[in-house]
Amino acid sequence: MANHFSQLAKKSRGSVSELKVEKTSYKNNLEIYKLGDEVLRKNSQRISKVDTSIRNLAKDMLQSMYSAKGIGLAAPQIGIHKELLVIDINYEDSAAEPLILINPEITAFGSTLNSYEEGCLSIPGVYLNVIRPSTIKLKFRDEMGRPRKMKADGLLARCIQHEMDHLNGVLFVDRVSSIEDLNKELSREGFNKKDVLPMN
Ligand code: NI
Repeated sequence: MANHFSQLAKKSRGSVSELKVEKTSYKNNLEIYKLGDEVLRKNSQRISKVDTSIRNLAKDMLQSMYSAKGIGLAAPQIGIHKELLVIDINYEDSAAEPLILINPEITAFGSTLNSYEEGCLSIPGVYLNVIRPSTIKLKFRDEMGRPRKMKADGLLARCIQHEMDHLNGVLFVDRVSSIEDLNKELSREGFNKKDVLPMN
């Protein structure tokens, strides 16, 4: 399954990225804001120009994501309210290239929903099931500013939807349907349930 996703991620890329980031731990990582911080609840802005500063930011985000052993990181998690996501569901495979999504927009959702356990670097230690569409189509710009389209399913589709929620100030705990499980997980990890903003 991991192999399938890795091929899918590669196919979406096209030419070789100029962003080379080793998948290892780094020092001097960006601070990742945690549940309860208002920074995570603000909307992000579209990126009008994809330039070196955006590529450097993506590189710093990738390094911080690999250090934290995450599979995705959204710019608002480090306090930058821009529509930029980095994703690598194959972080243990040094050859698989990460995805850098700028101004992502979902153009279609599949009709099938599935439930799967999610976690978030902003809510460490908390893992809960979330129901989401299992397939999506999206458009975005890559780190060179080129317009791209892709289809995603499985873990990749889930990860993209989770990270895109961050751009709208939404956290996965807002989408959890089992309030009992939610409260149990949050209190065990020392988070406050008042910081959850349920979607329904
Ligand atoms: Ni997250």
